[in-house]
Amino acid sequence: MYTAVALDGPAGAGKSTIAKRAAKELDFIYVDTGALYRTIGYAAIKNGIEPVDSPEVDELLDKITVDLTFNDNGEQVVLLNGEDVSAFIRTPEVSMTASKISAIPNVRAYLLDLQRDMAKTHSVIMDGRDIGTVVLPDAEVKIFLTASPEARARRRYKELAEKGMNVNYEDILKDVKTRDYNDSHRAAAPLKPAEGCTVVDTTELDFEQSVEKIISVIKEKI
Ligand code: DC
Repeated sequence: MYTAVALDGPAGAGKSTIAKRAAKELDFIYVDTGALYRTIGYAAIKNGIEPVDSPEVDELLDKITVDLTFNDNGEQVVLLNGEDVSAFIRTPEVSMTASKISAIPNVRAYLLDLQRDMAKTHSVIMDGRDIGTVVLPDAEVKIFLTASPEARARRRYKELAEKGMNVNYEDILKDVKTRDYNDSHRAAAPLKPAEGCTVVDTTELDFEQSVEKIISVIKEKI
């Protein structure tokens, strides 16, 4: 049978890089659910639609298709209307729109089966905000990965600067705090540690230590 690891936590805690590596070592599939919300955010921007609960967003959901696939390297690729949008969904504008659009209950419902289906057909480490609480409440392992807002903003700054983006640390810290607030104060599936989860704080851990810690938590439970 398949094993599910629910990995939740705030933006920039290192979930994706840590989970990618852990998934490789355990031979699980890494599923980045934030990319799905980002894809819908991107579609809204492209269509000039405000990320608020409205008939326009419902119409958008009716007319788009979102698919999750994997390339030859085992990396996740999200398709919007059949087209790979991976290169367009990591900008600060899409981050903020994704945070807003993910508060809409119909958007969350739209993505629910897609996420659950992945765990029915693979052993997964699924990274998100509500995986342990809503998407996979029966996951064998539930981890809440966090770090201080400043540590997370520093990491995000480094990541974007390395990609050649022109970014400012204070702006990123403000974005991190705004997204934390949005993600944890929304009515629909707010970000919060799942019952019985293991909380891992990476503020004082480097990447290798974080990976080691996550793998040891997973191995302990399965
Ligand atoms: O993990 P990320 O930063 O790529 O996620 C983008 C946005 O999507 C984030 O602001 C919160 C939202 N999100 C969510 O509401 N539920 C998830 N399971 C994953 C992401």
